[in-house]
Amino acid sequence: LREHEEFTKVKNIATIELGRYEIETWYFSPFPPEYNDSLKLYFCEFCLNFMKRPEQLQRHMKKCDLKHPPGDEIYRSGTLSMFEVDGKKNKVYGQNLCYLAKLFLDHKTLYYDVDLFLFYVLCECDDRGCHMVGYFSKEKHSEESYNLACILTLPPYQRKGYGKFLIAFSYELSKKEGKVGTPERPLSDLGLLSYRGYWTRVLLDILKKHKGNISIKELSDMTAIKAEDILTTLQSLELIQYRKGQHVICADPKVLDRHLKAAGRGGLEVDVSKLIWTPYK
Ligand code: ACO
Ligand code: ZN
Repeated sequence: LREHEEFTKVKNIATIELGRYEIETWYFSPFPPEYNDSLKLYFCEFCLNFMKRPEQLQRHMKKCDLKHPPGDEIYRSGTLSMFEVDGKKNKVYGQNLCYLAKLFLDHKTLYYDVDLFLFYVLCECDDRGCHMVGYFSKEKHSEESYNLACILTLPPYQRKGYGKFLIAFSYELSKKEGKVGTPERPLSDLGLLSYRGYWTRVLLDILKKHKGNISIKELSDMTAIKAEDILTTLQSLELIQYRKGQHVICADPKVLDRHLKAAGRGGLEVDVSKLIWTPYK
């Protein structure tokens, strides 16, 4: 019995229903105790309220008038929209999102203090509403120059380029703020893969255009990627040499082309002209 108790404490909710998907969960999430005897939870895909029984969700859907995340739509391109949700103005939504996200994030501590965060929720929109694909959170004020706290693409939407889109979006916000940024550590394995992929693609494209004649500082100014992240990325691509006490970029065009070929798909582009946003004050 003890062992069973321990086991159920490790992972409580096995599946969730969200919009038209039934999704298997990955990790424990600290839902309020009254939900812990449920194997499955039913989420309203718009306000993210969760329920233990399908009838409760059906009843809820009849009266829930949201058709997209609460907050401001700050980006729309084709069927893709991004909403900015202030955790202080939409506390319950912020908390629901954290409960949901924790099901797929292993190492993150859940933020009860959603007041301090903005949530950027990416949606695919159709005539039924705006369906959440993924999100990232961002501290309103970060001392450590973090421009992203947690990132998630919901499993049914993974490996389609949305993760890199969310990452690119976080750097576009940093550019508008005139700051460099970096994701909060630690990164998960999938998080690291996605960031490495993003950094590699962005830096290689610029190096190719400038034929390698550019400094790490200049790269950082152009991309809002923190200098340390640029250095580790270029080191892993073996494009850095250490000369006279300094790191210098050595970008042989043939080496660049080889890396670019290996870097794979560019992913979904953020069309900056469609971003309507001013930094949080
Ligand atoms: N196996 C191997 N490589 C993968 C996988 C996988 N399952 N998933 C992503 N990658 C790598 C690939 O290199 C991929 O690029 P490619 O498809 O061009 O080869 C790259 O990551 C990014 O792929 P995307 O499709 O853009 O990313 P996705 O939408 O799948 O989202 C994310 C990536 C957000 C990390 C997703 O896997 C996720 O939500 N994971 C669970 C939560 C998590 O770990 N978040 C990061 C925590 S760290 C932090 O929050 C700061
Ligand atoms: Zn609802």
